[in-house]
Amino acid sequence: MLKGTFPIDQFKALTTPFYYYNIDLLKETLNMVTTEAGKYGYHVHYAVKANANPRILSVIAEHGLGADCVSGGEIQAALDAGFPAGKIVYAGVGKADWEINLGLDNDIYCFNVESAAELEVLDELAAAKNKVASIALRINPEVDAHTHAKITTGMKENKFGINLSQLGQVLDLVAQLKHVKLIGIHCHIGSQITDMAAFRGLAIRVNEIQEELEARGLKVENLNFGGGLGIDYYHPNHLPVPAFDNYFAVFNKLLQLRPGQQVHFEPGRSIVAQCGSLISKVLYVKVGETKKFCILDAGFTELIRPAMYDAYHRMENITNDEEIEVYDVVGPICESSDVFGKDVELNRAHRGDLIALRSAGAYGEVMASQYNCRKLPKAYYSDTL
Ligand SMILES: Cc1ncc(COP(=O)(O)O)c(C=O)c1O
Repeated sequence: MLKGTFPIDQFKALTTPFYYYNIDLLKETLNMVTTEAGKYGYHVHYAVKANANPRILSVIAEHGLGADCVSGGEIQAALDAGFPAGKIVYAGVGKADWEINLGLDNDIYCFNVESAAELEVLDELAAAKNKVASIALRINPEVDAHTHAKITTGMKENKFGINLSQLGQVLDLVAQLKHVKLIGIHCHIGSQITDMAAFRGLAIRVNEIQEELEARGLKVENLNFGGGLGIDYYHPNHLPVPAFDNYFAVFNKLLQLRPGQQVHFEPGRSIVAQCGSLISKVLYVKVGETKKFCILDAGFTELIRPAMYDAYHRMENITNDEEIEVYDVVGPICESSDVFGKDVELNRAHRGDLIALRSAGAYGEVMASQYNCRKLPKAYYSDTL
């Protein structure tokens, strides 16, 4: 079995479970995304929600990306890591007043507004500070992302964005408000999208929306297509850097840009997923009547994606190369959903073996919890270990 390369000797001295980040791979991915986006002059804002680890954020900020935030906490984390306020965009269906005020006080680049109600509050809070907030309307484009139901965001029944049928009313409201300035439109249709047809549909829909805006005499200076580019969870060793070239080419080919218009993206998973692994230790191998369980010291408290989204993570026994056996790989949490994978092929597992759960850099550490009074996992980095 082709496995990832890990500094096993150093790992032996560390307390499991922990996250391990390959900083070289992160940098390679960042160089690729900036090069490919740069070919068309596109702007990239990293989606902080995917991984808000301060070290990871600072490496990303050093590569010149902006930040896409969905909470006041994320705005603060992005600022602390060195992202310039002028490159921060802020989305979210439920922005609290203090969060909006934090964005206003720091003069962030753009508020991605998700409802008429939010627009009125933003206008009021900006007025109180004698400011004008730059906004993009987050539009629900009704484009099916063909991804897991829990990470689809661009359909009518999802809570996000302004429905196309209500866009006219919201534009009327924007025209009346004095403390918001419409600079763009924003869409995000979902996550872990591997079918480029979904992005083609999005580009075409945004062309139509632009025509509708122009029919009302409106022109926006930017178009933001959100994130969503998927990664290959099955082959992390073969394809560690996602195909950003194909992704941006879709937009370049189909978008009908107006003169001077800027294009923005908010990738999260595609930047950080492959550089992170969750490293865990085998506590017990339990032989049941019909199943063999490999019981790890990591559970859904460290990596919730399998329990929450039925997500697949490739697992590797990085301690030994004995013959392959089939296990249900589970965690120690007192919930039957605490299963990382069923019928997983692993090199024979023994108590104390290290198991790497691959492609865990996105929506992994950042979603960790202390359920069952557990400690949050630590993180280690390839260049400082
Ligand atoms: C508004 C917005 N932008 C960007 C992203 C990042 O998506 P991804 O990690 O799939 O690239 C998300 C994720 O849900 C989002 O909600």
